[in-house]
Amino acid sequence: MKVCVIGGAGYIGSHAVLELVKDGHDVVVIDNLSTGTMDAVDEKARFYLGDITDEIKLREIFTEETKLGHFDAVMHFAAKIVVPESVSHPLEYYHNNVEGVRIMLKTMVNQGIKNVIFSSTAAVYGDVKKDVCTEEDELKPINPYGESKLASERMIHWVAQAYDMNYCIFRYFNVAGAHESLKIGLKRDNLTHIIPITVQTALKLRDSMVVFGDDYLTPDGTCIRDYIHVADLAFAHVLGMKYIVNGNKSATINLGSSTGYSVKQVIDEVSLHLPVNFSIGPRRPGDPAKLIASSDRAKELLGWIPKRTLKDIILTDLNFRRKHEIR
Ligand code: UFG
Repeated sequence: MKVCVIGGAGYIGSHAVLELVKDGHDVVVIDNLSTGTMDAVDEKARFYLGDITDEIKLREIFTEETKLGHFDAVMHFAAKIVVPESVSHPLEYYHNNVEGVRIMLKTMVNQGIKNVIFSSTAAVYGDVKKDVCTEEDELKPINPYGESKLASERMIHWVAQAYDMNYCIFRYFNVAGAHESLKIGLKRDNLTHIIPITVQTALKLRDSMVVFGDDYLTPDGTCIRDYIHVADLAFAHVLGMKYIVNGNKSATINLGSSTGYSVKQVIDEVSLHLPVNFSIGPRRPGDPAKLIASSDRAKELLGWIPKRTLKDIILTDLNFRRKHEIR
């Protein structure tokens, strides 16, 4: 199949590109390189520099590529994803994440491309009170990031209905880890996610780290999340694409492991390798206490089961940072 991966030079997008190439697909990457890097893009993919909010550029690239062959599907990874940043800069999130999706869909409609695979997030569920989230649960985001993804999900639904398109929307839980080759992983200045921060602290790339709140209603008082290895997550996209291109009904699917770990448990796991210097600080705005996926639908519709555990996530991230960040 011929696939366009928008945001294919970023952390998750570049893993998806790798899985697509490995599965024998013809891959075109569009990325503005705001957080992604050229060296993360597999050499078998064709790369175009472009921003998803640049309608003229997007049309140009699609028109040029369509001359070589029609696209079977478009995958979207070109989003801003940092919860606290979305709280302080909501307009940037609405512009990039919602307007970007509108322009992508408009381009797809104009080109007659029928299948879209979209990266959404567990943040659409908001402050969940249940033990695990199913896709049918109430959608009540508590931060602009989650709102921007929910608005995009709804836009995709209505556009697909109006123009006879198919979609596979994936709601990611906490994605982490690096590729086993150690060539790609989460490389970025100003990292905010718990696993890279804990690993960097263990590697003495940071003096210490702060646990944002230990007074949540969880067994040890710190927030619980469902961590999923990026390579497992990326592989689900290949399955999702085949699922809709082969004529199955559009679907919205959680991608998580169905298991939750607290912030303290993450620190304990990293501490098995190296000591971690941390202190307890105040809660961070926009953080729900607990987010765990029900992954039954992914298994039922796609036959997808994550292969890697929190141990694998931490070990690959640790080895990736040892290789790329220690000079
Ligand atoms: N945390 C700390 N200290 C840090 C960083 C994070 O205690 O230095 C805590 C946070 O407060 C939170 C937990 O670790 O309780 C996880 O935080 P992350 O920033 O790693 O991830 P989030 O859960 O905020 O968000 C991530 C993705 C979202 C996605 C969400 C779904 O960034 O895109 O997971 O669960 F929606």
